[in-house]
Amino acid sequence: MADKRQLELRDALRLLAPGPVALVSTLYRDHPNLMTAAWLLPLSLSPTYVGVAVQPSRLTHEFITKSEAFALSIPNVDLIDAVHACGLRSGRDGDKFAATGLNPAEATEIEAPLVAECVAHIECAVVDRISLGDHDLFVGNVLAVSADAEAFDGVWTVTTEAGRLLHHLGADRYAGLGRAYRATTEPDERR
Ligand SMILES: Cc1cc2nc3c(=O)[nH]c(=O)nc-3n(C[C@H](O)[C@H](O)[C@H](O)COP(=O)(O)O)c2cc1C
Repeated sequence: MADKRQLELRDALRLLAPGPVALVSTLYRDHPNLMTAAWLLPLSLSPTYVGVAVQPSRLTHEFITKSEAFALSIPNVDLIDAVHACGLRSGRDGDKFAATGLNPAEATEIEAPLVAECVAHIECAVVDRISLGDHDLFVGNVLAVSADAEAFDGVWTVTTEAGRLLHHLGADRYAGLGRAYRATTEPDERR
C-alpha cells in the first residue's frame, strides 16, 4: 500500500464529490467482504456523514447491518477489472480478495479491512439506515480518511495517473475525468 496522508474528516466529502466508484469493505465474524458501489454520496459536513445505497440482497447489506461499520476504498483506473469483478460476484460465493488479488490493509478506526491498492480510504461507523424503495441508505459517520498525496491534494488531481478515478456509466462501461477547470468567482463557502 503506497503511503497515504491522513486527512481531515471533511475531506471525505471532497473524495466523493466527483462521483467515483468505490469498493465497500466489511467484516463480520472474521469474514471480510468487498462490494463495488456507485451509489455513494456526501451527506453532512459537521458531523461528517457519507451515504451508500445498498440493496438488501447483498451480503454487504447483511455485514454492514451486523457490524455497524464499513470502509470505502476508492480505486483508480488501474483496478478496473477487479472493481468490475467485485460488482458481479457475491461474497457468498467466495472470498473476493482472493479472487481478484486485491490485498487487505488494516484500517485505523474499524475492524473491516481497507483495499491496499486503492488511492483513498474512508472509514465509517453506521449511524442510520433509511429504507428507500429497493435500496437502503446506510449513513456513515466518518472516523478516518486517508489518501495518496499524488492522487489527492485537497481535490482529486484528475490529470495524474494516480488520480484517474473510475466513474460508472452502466453495465461494463466506465469513464475517467481527464481535465480540470477552475472557476474565477469568489467562493463564500468551502465546497
Ligand atoms: C459499477 C458497479 C456499481 C455498483 N453499485 C452498487 C451500489 O451502489 N449498490 C448496490 O447495492 N449494488 C451495487 N452494485 C452491485 C453489487 O456490487 C453486486 O451485487 C455485488 O455482487 C454484491 O456483492 P456482495 O453480495 O458480496 O455484497 C454495483 C455493481 C457494479 C458493477
